[in-house]
Amino acid sequence: DKGDYEHFMLKEIHEQPVTIQDTFRGRISMDESKIFLGGILDVMPQLIKARRIIIVACGTSWHAGLVGEYLFEQYARIPVEVEYASEFRYRDPILEKDDLVIAISQSGETADTLAAIRKVRETDATILGICNVAGSSISRETDAGVYTHAGIEIGVASTKAFTSQITVLTMMALLLGSKRQALSASEYKHLIKELIQVPKKIEEILKEEHKIAEIAAVYKDVSNALYMGRGLLFPVALEGALKLKEISYIHAEGYPAAEMKHGPIALIDENMPVLALAANDESYEKMVSNIQEVKARKGKVIAVVTKGDKIIRKMADHIIEIPDCHEAVSPLLAVIPLQILSYHIALMRGCNVDQPRNLAKSVTVE
Ligand code: F6R
Repeated sequence: DKGDYEHFMLKEIHEQPVTIQDTFRGRISMDESKIFLGGILDVMPQLIKARRIIIVACGTSWHAGLVGEYLFEQYARIPVEVEYASEFRYRDPILEKDDLVIAISQSGETADTLAAIRKVRETDATILGICNVAGSSISRETDAGVYTHAGIEIGVASTKAFTSQITVLTMMALLLGSKRQALSASEYKHLIKELIQVPKKIEEILKEEHKIAEIAAVYKDVSNALYMGRGLLFPVALEGALKLKEISYIHAEGYPAAEMKHGPIALIDENMPVLALAANDESYEKMVSNIQEVKARKGKVIAVVTKGDKIIRKMADHIIEIPDCHEAVSPLLAVIPLQILSYHIALMRGCNVDQPRNLAKSVTVE
């Protein structure tokens, strides 16, 4: 049931304050100082001593995996590799007892991801699943796992499942960070608080939908678009570009902002919109220069910035503000305007938003 919404995708975008909360509900202690993930309790000793994490997934779930890579490395100090399931499965993966493999899949039925974990089964590595569909094949064939609790996702373009996957990965990274003593009790608590505040902050972004729709109207007829970000917002750039191409059929690519000058900047002219994700403090100055480089070549810049930003506001053609937050949770906020922008562009182009051409919700063929 779409309720008051015109499309399932729009409904699912708007559900995210609730679905993210559903994902962490009951998994954070009353005093907000600890995380409990019942589904991985049995394998906790293996997780605490894991030497390496290998994340396998496809599409949007693979983008969530890239966010996970930053989180596990930064907060739990565990080295991570993120693999396309389709590539991983056809290699001869080198896995050992203390390796931890995490399969991420909304449907839990993606053929390549399932085949990848069957391959891992032949080794001594521990396998975890992060799935949305309870009882799905991947959730059954893993040693342990954590459900995302995003509720059934109908729109073919994944939105709420993505933010719930990132919520689970954040909880896992913080929990392991604390158990492995990579995070102090106060840092742990502080980051948990930041996560708890995310749903409220997303509600604020959703209130700005009309402004994002105005930007969509300006760019609805373009043929190409670039997305750029750094650090935790680089995977969000990839996800933003994927959302746009899937449902509006506009050719879009995401890049780490620093890679622009190694090639893609050659594409910039007055017809090229560049979506710049500039909401993280760590790389703010660098993003400012990347935006200058695009403007110097007459590109159009739509920047996602932190509320109250003064510098980029003067340089960009359009800005979209998101509430101030800790960098660790910035992907959860920054992706929301990109989902909304893609939705409105696709709508204005007359595309079938919920069922884009050539795509299926669950890819059970290889
Ligand atoms: C994009 C999208 C796909 C899926 C991919 C993996 O919006 O939905 O890229 O993310 O097919 O699907 P799951 O997560 O079900 O394994």
